[in-house]
Amino acid sequence: MSVHYGDPQIAIGVVFAALALLLGAVFLAIGLQARSDVPDERVHRVGYWLRKRWLALLVVIGVVVVGISLLDLPFASGSDHGRAVVKVTGGQFFWSLVPNRVPAGTAIRFDITSIDVNHGFGLYDPHGHLIGSVQAMPGYHNRLDLTLRDAGVYRIRCLEFCGLSHSTMESSFTVAPPK
Ligand code: CUA
Repeated sequence: MSVHYGDPQIAIGVVFAALALLLGAVFLAIGLQARSDVPDERVHRVGYWLRKRWLALLVVIGVVVVGISLLDLPFASGSDHGRAVVKVTGGQFFWSLVPNRVPAGTAIRFDITSIDVNHGFGLYDPHGHLIGSVQAMPGYHNRLDLTLRDAGVYRIRCLEFCGLSHSTMESSFTVAPPK
């Protein structure tokens, strides 16, 4: 998976606001047109016919959209062939990353575990955006495949409450400019 640095949060917010306004306008239009002289029998027949088909359409769209999004999941289970493996270990209250520096554009597999309790591995790009997150669990190795193209310092923060000093559980990961 490659990572792009527009501002997807803003884009999603704008799309969401536009759709919400559109939905509000539809409700308003329907409300203004509503009449009380339509017989119930007709409302049921037409409304229920529409409702069944609308539900079927939403189910199909939902399955297709979720299915497509699964193709781009960064959580890996296959071979790490061709990837630089970064061993990540979480513990109360530190992160260890080996190595903690790679050249820009390297295909990385983060191999993440914990030595004590559950932690949340959260990776932030140099602009402060969360670009990857996976649980660090004792006895398990969770894998996250990412290719980091922007050089700079990436922060690691713990995203799961893991004890009194959870909020101090931070580290960094350096992506060096390509040679
Ligand atoms: Cu580790 Cu919170």
